[in-house]
Amino acid sequence: MEYILYEEDGAVGVITINREKALNALNSQVLDELSAQLDAVDLSKIRCLVLTGAGEKAFVAGADIGEMCLLTKAEAEAFGKKGNDVFRKLETFPIPVIAAVNGFALGGGCEISMSCDIRLASDTAVFGQPEVGLGITPGFGGTQRLARLVSPGMAKQLIYTARNIKADEAYRIGLVNAVISPEEGGSSKEAVLEAAKKMAKGIAAQAPIAVRASKKAINDGLQTDMDSAIVIEEKLFGSCFETKDQGAAMSNFLEKDKEKKLKVVPFVNE
Ligand code: CAA
Repeated sequence: MEYILYEEDGAVGVITINREKALNALNSQVLDELSAQLDAVDLSKIRCLVLTGAGEKAFVAGADIGEMCLLTKAEAEAFGKKGNDVFRKLETFPIPVIAAVNGFALGGGCEISMSCDIRLASDTAVFGQPEVGLGITPGFGGTQRLARLVSPGMAKQLIYTARNIKADEAYRIGLVNAVISPEEGGSSKEAVLEAAKKMAKGIAAQAPIAVRASKKAINDGLQTDMDSAIVIEEKLFGSCFETKDQGAAMSNFLEKDKEKKLKVVPFVNE
């Protein structure tokens, strides 16, 4: 692949959007490669993903404006669908995805981060939906996910004004889970990437069936009314039982031996 890097560290996979010269802007090729990379993740081994951008300056500076500028209405709609399909694949990916946002996350960059389960921002990160300044609406889910993630009023303010916000404001409005500052003289990008990998390893150490079921319960439940949502949870809760994960983890707890109780391994995918 030209624009996607992938590496594994134990049960954690790290996907890097690698188009640094264009601040990792999303053209059709990047979107296609990202989709193919997600399909290629070995889910029998990998339990959590980290998504980041190459270089210090940008996570993703948006959809590729050069590619978009001459699109017809129909072509633009198809381009929106292409982005939405990949972002939805990310959002519904069976295992959690953490965005390590290392710099600009504008337009499609903010949108792809919102398709991830968790966002960690470097202290240099900048978020925004600048599309109306380009004569378009957000097109990769921004009108929908931002309104759900922060609040409709704040989403409208950010989208209508096209104003960029820094990491601390993104944290204040609930757009990101945490802002990671480097140690004195350290790299902001390295700090956020390390924090994301550390969190991913912590998630990967939990029972994988239960983590996957939790993600599905939250995502599917948010799509529906509370009565139906609770039934979704009941079914996923039930699905964890009689698995080796659940048997081993609960037995470990019930054995009074403290050392063993904390050792929640081995978990298996069955
Ligand atoms: N598309 C295509 N190329 C982009 C790009 C984008 N979204 N963002 C940056 N680049 C390119 C620049 O054209 C430039 O390329 P050249 O070196 O070949 O000229 C290179 O990346 C570096 O960018 P700048 O010189 O502009 O860097 P800067 O430090 O002066 O500014 C920036 C950084 C503020 C992020 C600025 O690049 C910028 O405003 N980028 C566009 C941000 C934006 O509007 N994103 C939304 C796109 S629309 C969208 O995403 C729609 C949707 O929802 C689907």
